[in-house]
Amino acid sequence: MPLQEGRPVSGAKVLIACEFSGIVRDAFARAGCDSWSCDLLPSEQPGNHIQADVLGVLDQGWDLMIAFPPCTHLAVSGARWFKDKKPQQEMAVTFVRRLWAAPIECIAIENPIGVLSTKFRLPDQIIQPWQFGHGETKATCLWLKNLPKLVPTRVVTGRTARVHREPPGPDRWKNRSRTCSGIADAMARQWTPDQKSGSHDHEKWSRKGSR
Ligand SMILES: C[S@@+](CC[C@H](N)C(=O)[O-])C[C@H]1O[C@@H](n2cnc3c(N)ncnc32)[C@H](O)[C@@H]1O
Repeated sequence: MPLQEGRPVSGAKVLIACEFSGIVRDAFARAGCDSWSCDLLPSEQPGNHIQADVLGVLDQGWDLMIAFPPCTHLAVSGARWFKDKKPQQEMAVTFVRRLWAAPIECIAIENPIGVLSTKFRLPDQIIQPWQFGHGETKATCLWLKNLPKLVPTRVVTGRTARVHREPPGPDRWKNRSRTCSGIADAMARQWTPDQKSGSHDHEKWSRKGSR
């Protein structure tokens, strides 16, 4: 088995759903995976990218999916608009449920704190950028299927609220929604499927308490 940075190269098929930045896709590619991003938008960076509705590609034999569904109608930061946006919110929750039901063995869904905790299920973990080398706060929920909780890789002192760092402008939502590289690297290092035996070692992960 070839080695990359001292680790086995898995060749696992990984789908990064709802990602235009390519940040998580490229972290998994560096870990030796056959890694693809999918978004309605084009990829900002060259790389394997499917520009399409992700619901149409869920059945293409992926080993692992990490999804970053839109939070506009779900996040607590938009709560004052919730009462006027019930149908949009229902659609957003349904989209998350369809991602969760995908025929993929290992799934992680990421979203800020919001209504998913009540309308979908409680998250398995809440992480912060400052646990992964970025001196910022942005409480981020993870829902995990057959994956272990992420272990912080580098706790740093900064606690600047990420939402306050972005000036108004057309690209504000993009700048706020790009995944931190430290979190992307942690996902790739800790969640790359072990294919040495041709299967995932999710029994070991399950014993650690994940679902
Ligand atoms: C919160 S952003 C996630 C950005 C991501 N963290 C990144 O670094 O690129 C949500 C993304 O979901 C995409 N999206 C929304 N509906 C989609 C769908 N049905 N299929 C694929 N992508 C979708 C949007 O275009 C948007 O880029």
